[in-house]
Amino acid sequence: MKRYRYGLFFLTVILGAFALYRCFADRCPDHKEPESVRIGITLYRDDDTFINSICRILETEAKKYEKTEGIRMILDVMDAKEDQNTQNSQVDRFLALGCDVICVNMVDRSAASVIIDKAMDREVPVIFFNREPVSEDLNRWEKLFYVGANPKEEGVCQGNMIADAYDACPEILDLNGDGKVSYVILEGERGHQDSLMRTEWAVQTLKNRGVDLEKLTGGIANWQRSQADALMGQWLEKFPEQIELVLSNNDDMALGAIDTLRRLGIIRPVCVAGIDGTPAGLDAVESGFMLGTVVIDRETYGKTMMRMALSLAETGRTPEDISLERGAYFRCPSYPEIRKRKDEAPETGKIE
Ligand code: GAL
Repeated sequence: MKRYRYGLFFLTVILGAFALYRCFADRCPDHKEPESVRIGITLYRDDDTFINSICRILETEAKKYEKTEGIRMILDVMDAKEDQNTQNSQVDRFLALGCDVICVNMVDRSAASVIIDKAMDREVPVIFFNREPVSEDLNRWEKLFYVGANPKEEGVCQGNMIADAYDACPEILDLNGDGKVSYVILEGERGHQDSLMRTEWAVQTLKNRGVDLEKLTGGIANWQRSQADALMGQWLEKFPEQIELVLSNNDDMALGAIDTLRRLGIIRPVCVAGIDGTPAGLDAVESGFMLGTVVIDRETYGKTMMRMALSLAETGRTPEDISLERGAYFRCPSYPEIRKRKDEAPETGKIE
């Protein structure tokens, strides 16, 4: 009986202390619970080299914030495996979990309205990234944003890089000396804004710079190294002596073309140009297999995106010092990385 009374006494003391604490917490506006921010991230496919590297930077940034700001950061990262329905369900899950912000790398960039409806209903801001929704969708609400590359700038940069090499030494690109550069083009995806703009502006820039171009063929390799390797194999069968330049919308596909050239031990020094500046892409430039790449500043990309997400979660606004095009778009800067001796023929030869 005595034990039971002690138990009751302690329970009353604990409950009393808790009630006092709640009362203090509610009245005192300065009182703060340890903050936590929850961010849901859904990727169109997790094994895409560029996307994967952006995701790693987001995770690193979140850890840094946890240390420096004392904020508990919870990142829920999900792979939509190229299925829009799966991605829509992932967004439902994020909303049910109480995410403060959702970051969406759309599977189908024309299908953003379903996700926007859900987020608007729950008043949760959305940062779309890398796969740009149409502007009619993004304009529907002031809490919708886009972080991505600047495909026109990258296309122009790729074109200029090649034109510079041509000006320095035309024989590097015009291998048969007929006055024309015969090229093939590896494109990312049909309907992807980065693919369309990079292709258009790389070709246009080369033409503007006075390089006489002849397109032999082109094809979609879905940003993937293995698909580009397969396409390049077919093209080399069809045009064994003609290909002088491979224009690629990204580094992975450029590396795929280089894989074919090296596997077949092609002696003609075909020039290959990429975009992204992935570690493997930069290695290929450094070792002379790739003429050059356009490096997308991934650190700025990931850091800016994480700062926007955090600020939206905490204040409902994006940071003042991040200037957004039309109040909603952040386009990441890029710069060229070209083979040191651009007047030298690229490396060729069989892989050991
Ligand atoms: C592009 C990038 C590609 C690929 C694609 C996926 O911006 O250059 O490598 O990641 O996005 O949407």
